[in-house]
Amino acid sequence: MASTEATARLGTETLQDLARRHLWLHFTRMSAYDDAEIPIIVRGEGCYVYDQHGKRYLDGLSALFCVNIGHGRADVAQAGADQAKDLGFFTNWSYAHPPAIELAARVASLAPGDLNRVFFTSGGSEAVESALKLARQYHKLRGNSQKTKFIAREIAYHGTSLGALAATGVTGLRTPFEPLAPGGSHVMNTNTYRMAPGVSEEAFAESIAERIEFEGPETVAAVILEPVQNAGGCFTPPEGYFQRVREICDEYDVLLISDEVICSWGRLGEWFGSQRYDYTPDVITTAKALTSAYAPMGAVIVSDRIAEPFMSGLNSFTHGFTFGGHPVCAAIALANLDVLENEGVIENVRAHEAEFRSMLESLRDLPIVGDVRGAGYFQAIELVKDQETQETFDDDESEVLLRGFLSGELYRRGLICRADDRGDPVIQLSPPLIAGPEQFAEIEAILRTVLTEAGERMHVPGAHAGAPRDPQRRQPA
Ligand SMILES: Cc1ncc(COP(=O)(O)O)c(C=O)c1O
Repeated sequence: MASTEATARLGTETLQDLARRHLWLHFTRMSAYDDAEIPIIVRGEGCYVYDQHGKRYLDGLSALFCVNIGHGRADVAQAGADQAKDLGFFTNWSYAHPPAIELAARVASLAPGDLNRVFFTSGGSEAVESALKLARQYHKLRGNSQKTKFIAREIAYHGTSLGALAATGVTGLRTPFEPLAPGGSHVMNTNTYRMAPGVSEEAFAESIAERIEFEGPETVAAVILEPVQNAGGCFTPPEGYFQRVREICDEYDVLLISDEVICSWGRLGEWFGSQRYDYTPDVITTAKALTSAYAPMGAVIVSDRIAEPFMSGLNSFTHGFTFGGHPVCAAIALANLDVLENEGVIENVRAHEAEFRSMLESLRDLPIVGDVRGAGYFQAIELVKDQETQETFDDDESEVLLRGFLSGELYRRGLICRADDRGDPVIQLSPPLIAGPEQFAEIEAILRTVLTEAGERMHVPGAHAGAPRDPQRRQPA
């Protein structure tokens, strides 16, 4: 129990001091903790985690869409320890080892269609980066060296490394690092709650064809899309969307990359999100719950057709990462897949998805709830200023609502979920796939209380007049 032991040895105050002085949190305003405690999570068990004071939280986000089998599985940890004793590390640069071989074969057996070739990475951004490079080299090997561009969707998040960031469609994440790697452009996402007047659902897929034509089909390498788009709040595809995208990609010889860093390993009630929506991509990128995050690992899963030109003669995929396919991570991934397969975890999502969703739908009686959407155990609530008109909060109001109140208050009441305004403000819920009615009831109770107060604070019509807005109130970010 290493982190429990460290907490006992160092004490909570020293841990706080050391965290403040030395630890740089990702995507975090460190100044938010000048006079507030940094949340320090020490251990986890099932759907719950415990902080440095021993306080329990429902992990309604699976530690950032990762811990699909739940926390604290000693058997999965043991699989890593056992492997470390045999072979702690060897690289996949020119060499293979049994855990990577077995895992590649297992992943191929679960993946849709002829996606049979697996290239391992250490995480999601590396997987996306690798897929984009693979698409370019694939076209070059086939004599189409002009095909270098890729198309993604507005507000989509595909990672932070410079190549992946060019696919990410969140302006605020891009501008601090411009100029980005060239080649990325963005089309409309499948936000049906806020469709522009006169736009039909068919236009979502057609916008990809139009962009390919605009760029010049001979210059476009790939389209990268999530089955359900995370950023913006769980945008699901309308009926027929991916079938039409598949046709468009085939017509223009453009690779379809399904970015399933979140949407695979049962999150949507299937092994892969593409299976839920019945399409076969050319390439799948995955990470996070491949190991349920008991160790860092990602993968690019490639169809035989796309892998073929790399497999003959002097050709190779001229790309790699030292830790790709790490044997300890691969052993843990295999143990994780055993749990998903043998313990009915994915079946649990299918069995309880409707109940999870109807619990969230029941919150629509709160005037601040504008929309509820998502699939499987991946759902979002969009918050609005006016339920009737769907008016959204402006940037300043969003700041007050999300960072000034919701994030801190939900955490204080024992629920970890995500209050996000990369698009319009949403709360995202993505609990471990072992969650059921007991956790749904807890989530509902906390959300109802906190969203009621949020509506009052923001003077949403229909919410009771309550406490005045107080943007200065400090909460953990
Ligand atoms: C769809 C998608 N792609 C890529 C990434 C990047 O993954 P990572 O943070 O492991 O680099 C993420 C991370 O959340 C993601 O959701």
